[in-house]
Amino acid sequence: MRKAFICGNWKMFKTPGETVALVRELRAKLNESASVEVGIAPPFTSLAAARQALLGSHLRLAGQNCHWEAQGTFTGEVSAPMLKEVGCDSVIVGHSERRQHFGETDEAVNRRARAALESGLTPIVCLGETLAEREAGRTLDVVSRQIRACLAGFSPAQVEALVVAYEPVWAIGTGRVATPAQAQEVHQALRGWISDLAGRAVADKVRIQYGGSVKPDNAAELLALPDVDGALVGGASLKADDFARIVAAARRR
Ligand code: 13P
Repeated sequence: MRKAFICGNWKMFKTPGETVALVRELRAKLNESASVEVGIAPPFTSLAAARQALLGSHLRLAGQNCHWEAQGTFTGEVSAPMLKEVGCDSVIVGHSERRQHFGETDEAVNRRARAALESGLTPIVCLGETLAEREAGRTLDVVSRQIRACLAGFSPAQVEALVVAYEPVWAIGTGRVATPAQAQEVHQALRGWISDLAGRAVADKVRIQYGGSVKPDNAAELLALPDVDGALVGGASLKADDFARIVAAARRR
């Protein structure tokens, strides 16, 4: 049985001071238990403050991106070893906002995920189709191409160590969530392609999160789906109450 993993993607929200306040509120509201993994991904500048505020907690801490080199002349980038040293255990790579606004490609996502793995971080590899692609009936083609390119060349052990996040672009920040049937169809297909790449035993262990307008009132039905193993939560992760209710839904699944 795969343990659910709920991660809050804070995107470009929360200064270090605001981060400490939100972490405190979260710790007060989240009933931490070993049955669900919970994490947060604040902006880079808030990671150190978050790590401090998380002392004594089991919450995971994630970066929102990492470069493929450990160091170098890459102005504006942050490396996996840097995230590791500041106290992260995971990192989001390939988020659609990076693909849309910053030219992120599957090949770059592959290199970033590999660097994360080599630093001992869990990469959360994001993929998903746009509205135009879904309406053209190309969802499975697009997602299949993405997963193959993002995981190309990875050993079965590397695939087992990562998390995949299916985030349909049209559901992100729109309030328009995938229906359970739409989510399950893609998650099940993803598990099949992961099996082609790394074998059935590995595919059965890899967690596949759903992301895109996950809220307290839709989390339970999504998390109950057989191939949905958690959620990557944007807007609702910035409200301690909402995030705690999503985690509670994962615990009941
Ligand atoms: P929302 O939950 O705000 O739709 O964002 C989803 C997301 O992008 C998580 O990475």
